[in-house]
Amino acid sequence: MSLSDDVSEQDKPPGLRLKPPKPWLVALLANVKEHDWVQPPDLPPDFGADYDYIETIDTIRAAIESGGHKTVFLQADSHLPYALQEVHPDICFNIAEGLGGDAREAQTPALLEMLGIPYTGSRVLANAIALDKPLTKRIWRERGLPVGPFQEFFSPNDPLDPQLEFPLFVKPAREGTGMGVDSKAKVHSEAELRERVEYVLKFYKQPALVETFLPGREFTVGQLGRPGAARYSFHPEWYAEDGFHRLPILELDSRRAATPGIYSHAAKAAMVGTDGAPLYLCPADIEPDLADYLHRVAIQAHQAIGALDVSRVDFRLDAHGQPCMLEINPLPGLTPGYSDLCIQAAAEGIAYEDLILEILYLGASRWGLVELT
Ligand SMILES: Nc1ncnc2c1ncn2[C@@H]1O[C@H](COP(=O)(O)OP(=O)(O)OP(=O)(O)O)[C@@H](O)[C@H]1O
Ligand SMILES: [Mg+2]
Repeated sequence: MSLSDDVSEQDKPPGLRLKPPKPWLVALLANVKEHDWVQPPDLPPDFGADYDYIETIDTIRAAIESGGHKTVFLQADSHLPYALQEVHPDICFNIAEGLGGDAREAQTPALLEMLGIPYTGSRVLANAIALDKPLTKRIWRERGLPVGPFQEFFSPNDPLDPQLEFPLFVKPAREGTGMGVDSKAKVHSEAELRERVEYVLKFYKQPALVETFLPGREFTVGQLGRPGAARYSFHPEWYAEDGFHRLPILELDSRRAATPGIYSHAAKAAMVGTDGAPLYLCPADIEPDLADYLHRVAIQAHQAIGALDVSRVDFRLDAHGQPCMLEINPLPGLTPGYSDLCIQAAAEGIAYEDLILEILYLGASRWGLVELT
């Protein structure tokens, strides 16, 4: 029986079968950054920070191979279309961040859809939406999900919406890994605001997102799965009735980080437990009601943009203690012991290999590569 057939929850199958049988050839698609890369002067100081080191790529490959598969690493650059047609992978494990433009994280999924090659995680539209924080927030606001006041600036001279009260927070509209976020992102006056907007426009070559500064605690909330996921997972016990697995909530306490109070690029770059890094508190010490609320809203936010199988949603509390969503990451970092999602999985005893294989099989099942037996 194929997964596309209708299977009721009571008919939980005794097992799963891979089609084609093992080993699959799994292509890991990523953009690599060098340890000793010298930054050209016309690029922002944190250019390419969301790319992956080769060590992370090797670790993900080892995890996939631990499941009995073969792997190959392909750079997600302009040669990728040719490499894919040469290699003929059964499926791609996608962590590619893309090469620029207004929807770079959707470039590789779009290519794979064009070539008809199965791949993991969210598809084109969700990756494109999630990269654009103002667009994502408009969708969430329209759904009644909690976002703070914000405005997108296309020029430093745009009139400031009177609803936005200082201090404000300015960041690039379409970046990740804390790029464009440092202590100067928090602005206290119109002069500081316009200077920072100019900086973002000039160096990041994209609109600036201006938000109310959220002074409260910060949490990141991760989830795996989708409705019905337990039916075709190798860990059906992980999933709640709605098909989602809620990872333990991670609190980022950045009070003593490189940029106090802000989980910036510099704070993210510091290794866990070293000077400059925030405290990673997982599971966060919060009331069960707040935890339930964050999990519920994060899954609604994930579904509102059509994300699939895995994502991480970032929250901060506003001045009244109300949670507000900052953004969603459908391509969360997967460096063991370092990336937020991996810290969350480890905190509940999920082995790194199982996390990676679960993302692989959740994706594979959508492309008919996992059969119920
Ligand atoms: N409105 C805000 N008020 C206060 N702090 C903020 C605000 N927006 C962002 N921050 C701080 O900046 C950090 C980075 O912001 P955000 O999560 O939007 O960026 P990112 O680079 O996409 O993150 P990621 O690494 O998760 O992809 C947040 O974790 C938070 O500490
Ligand atoms: Mg974030």
